[in-house]
Amino acid sequence: MATVAPNLLRNEPMRRDPRTFQPFLRLARLLADVAPGRSPLASGLPINMAVGDPQQPAPALLAETVAAHPDGWSSYPPFRGTPDYQRAAVGWLARRYGLPEGLVDGERNLLPIPGSREGLFFAALSALSAGAAEGRDCVLLPAPGYHVYAGAAAAAGAEPVFVPVTRASGFLPDYAALDPAILRRAAIAFVCSPSNPEGAAADLPRWRDLLALARRHGFVLAADECYAEIYVGAPPAGALQAAAETGSLDGLLAFHSLSKRSNAAGLRCGFLAGESALVDTVDAFCRFGGASVPLPIQQAGAALWNDDAHAEANRAFYARLFERAEATLGGRFGWHKPAGGFFLWLEVGDDEAAALRLWREAGIRTLPGSYMVADAHLQPNPAAGFLRVALVHDESVTGPALERLVELLDG
Ligand SMILES: Cc1ncc(COP(=O)(O)O)c(C=O)c1O
Repeated sequence: MATVAPNLLRNEPMRRDPRTFQPFLRLARLLADVAPGRSPLASGLPINMAVGDPQQPAPALLAETVAAHPDGWSSYPPFRGTPDYQRAAVGWLARRYGLPEGLVDGERNLLPIPGSREGLFFAALSALSAGAAEGRDCVLLPAPGYHVYAGAAAAAGAEPVFVPVTRASGFLPDYAALDPAILRRAAIAFVCSPSNPEGAAADLPRWRDLLALARRHGFVLAADECYAEIYVGAPPAGALQAAAETGSLDGLLAFHSLSKRSNAAGLRCGFLAGESALVDTVDAFCRFGGASVPLPIQQAGAALWNDDAHAEANRAFYARLFERAEATLGGRFGWHKPAGGFFLWLEVGDDEAAALRLWREAGIRTLPGSYMVADAHLQPNPAAGFLRVALVHDESVTGPALERLVELLDG
């Protein structure tokens, strides 16, 4: 049994000030009074490898399609999606995961969302609200993990149960090892695959087990698959594939987005797919909270989901960066090419000291892994000693930056 004891106090610091758990605010504080050193670029300008903002241009198709729908701005967005958007999203899911026809019904099982961020947040609120009558007041989440999972738990006044994600756990959370009493109190469990920050991907047996666990204990499995199109080698399995094997979407919500697939984080366009009753509840909350996708954006989104060529080119871009990283890092920092995503998760010893040194001496901004877990949440911090480095710049920037990183941190 894992020894993650429920403790409402864990959320106290965050309730008082949610910013305490915002990794980038913590990083800004760390570096506030430290002048950046000259970076290895000819310009000497700082290089931001802390945030996972895609730096490549979005496909021209995006702007062209938005421009072709000028009339769509005057009306409120169609909450459940235009027929075009529904068809495009369902079509992409079918191509990407080989889903049987009819499993995901565009009208019943799908909801456009601005991005996975908004969907994940509202899904937690709605699962906790719906589960309250049964005494479900916990959110299961990976530590380290995307900070919005914990932010949603805090906003709902729920108890976050941080489950350590380590090399030993295959860099994915082992929810099955939790005390069944906690599992019975869980409203929702977050699983990210390919994962941020480690780049680990759940295989089909793992998704099968997670879905079976969620169904057995009656909580929602929230599969955050926003990096589903950024992978090295074979495409990672999806939670919907495990659901397809059972012929039902019960207990599942899968989150997808164009932010990474199409370098379109600013478009705010994605969708969630899953059990119709769950989708209906999230839809209701999104309508209250206003997380909808304007019509011209849905049209652009449909065009992008329908086009695989740009996503393939984008995947090749990240694959080249990983090759470059492999050649430069050469097995240092406990690093191996991950299954997907676009982060390096490097074991560097004191991660705060490493981030400071890279900034002060080389103008390279990285994120101390330990900032992805609040001290009040889990001790010892499972992400301490790791540095997260985003591979989002092109090779002419990433290459020299990695060489300098090795120079400064190795030995
Ligand atoms: C793990 C994870 N989930 C969700 C998101 C949110 O992405 P978006 O809302 O743009 O789809 C991010 C963004 O970086 C992320 O890393």
